[in-house]
Amino acid sequence: MSYSSLAHFVKTLEEAGELIRITLPVATELQITELANREMKKPEGGKALLFEKPTIHGVISKFPVLINAMGSRRRMAMALGLHSVEELSSQLEFLMKAKPPKTFRDGLTLLRQGIDLVHARPRYVKRGPCQEVVYRLDQAQSDFSLSSLPILKCWPHDGGRFVTLPTVYTKDPDTGDRNIGMYRMQVYDGSTTGMHWQVHKVAARHGKRYYERGEPMPVAVALGGDPVFPFSAMAPLPDGIDEILFAGFARKRSVELVKCISVPLEVPAESDIVIEGFVYPGETRPEGPFGDHTGFYTPVDDYPVFHVTAITHRREAIYPATIVGVPPMEDFYMGEASVRIFLPIFKMNFPEIVDMALPAEGVFHNLVFVSIRKQYPWQAFKVMHGLWGMGQMMFSKYIIVVDEDCNVQNTSEVIFRLCSNTDPQRDSIVTKNPSDSLDHAPTIANLGSHMGFDATKKLPGEGYTRGWPDLVKMDPAVEAWADQFVGYPG
Ligand SMILES: Cc1cc2nc3c(=O)[nH]c(=O)nc-3n(C[C@H](O)[C@H](O)[C@H](O)COP(=O)(O)O)c2cc1C
Repeated sequence: MSYSSLAHFVKTLEEAGELIRITLPVATELQITELANREMKKPEGGKALLFEKPTIHGVISKFPVLINAMGSRRRMAMALGLHSVEELSSQLEFLMKAKPPKTFRDGLTLLRQGIDLVHARPRYVKRGPCQEVVYRLDQAQSDFSLSSLPILKCWPHDGGRFVTLPTVYTKDPDTGDRNIGMYRMQVYDGSTTGMHWQVHKVAARHGKRYYERGEPMPVAVALGGDPVFPFSAMAPLPDGIDEILFAGFARKRSVELVKCISVPLEVPAESDIVIEGFVYPGETRPEGPFGDHTGFYTPVDDYPVFHVTAITHRREAIYPATIVGVPPMEDFYMGEASVRIFLPIFKMNFPEIVDMALPAEGVFHNLVFVSIRKQYPWQAFKVMHGLWGMGQMMFSKYIIVVDEDCNVQNTSEVIFRLCSNTDPQRDSIVTKNPSDSLDHAPTIANLGSHMGFDATKKLPGEGYTRGWPDLVKMDPAVEAWADQFVGYPG
């Protein structure tokens, strides 16, 4: 299943009992985010909230605000048109392991996957609902501007209003390869924002090439449409892999792309709102502070400036937003889904990996649990080094490796193994790697130390000279006997 607009997703959420409509006016300055934060802290992420009458400086906006739409396991799966994100993970695994079919059934399954891959190719269309209403900010005076959108101020000490769920489209000027990333945008005035692509991200690399060539960088920001787009934008796909292909494959329907009005880029025709413009070489401006994923404010720093040339939208557009802060928040469920979906890719690189988890407390990269089927000495360290060298896993601050019989989805089980199975000096390693720009702990921004713990059972050859004890476990026959009772015998 795919969605033709954000309104379509809202309808689906509502029919599933996953949405609350707030019909009274609520301010876009702090009030919407306070209610959303309370909802996100409820067990299993609460419900999605649709604010029908968001107010900007006391005036009701014509665009409703949708928030927490992907903030639970169920809603995250619904956003991708699935019952569970594992369905997509199995499809990816199948594709990667595909071998010539041996049976008719194998052949049919392969054919079906082939058809899904056909959907990965986008279709180019002349017109799209995202351009039903067009405002050129670079031409005739228009009273429509960024200030007309219900952009939220999330936390009291934020430097202003921030677009928090944007999908940012850029192209590599050398190859023409497209990238979509999710980078927040601080509103400076009606036609200018910050562009918070951090130094390690793909759009920052594109930007650097434009700056070196001395050319303005076209940028398009799409909001809304099928929720597969924000998910694809935040997912850590390798540089060079087009998120639009992934989105089409994931939703089993080709993405329709339409040319932007004022920049040489294409965006999904079914988006709700599109903001177009340019980033100019060398121009930066202080950005922040911003109450961030880390649960702390990120301080002011210089980032590129985005000059808006046009804003287009559907007639009945909905403005999508999220709030980040002390976890768990909506982004935890987005991050968790991306780990589940891309686990087969990790396993392809590291066949010993059984499972992985990035618990909410670790705010994405700060804490990574990995279980492995260990075969040889120091294999846990090999896995750590591999992860530190793999895309955005480079940011992983603490990696804890456990044996395959430990459930990494259960934080307390992992901490138990860490505490009981490690001799800190022998089983840890501290190394240097780039660190997440948002991490406030390193002395120098973007450079940090990273620590790994081998909490697996020690094998002969790993220097452990005593016999490793067995984990205390009940006899399986006795467990089976006890399982037959709901409570106690009799
Ligand atoms: C809600 C949300 C907000 C984000 N904000 C930013 C941001 O402001 N800057 C940034 O560099 N990454 C941000 N990220 C993380 C990136 O979207 C993520 O690293 C993505 O994979 C980057 O895409 P890229 O690899 O194509 O650059 C955010 C993620 C989420 C879920």
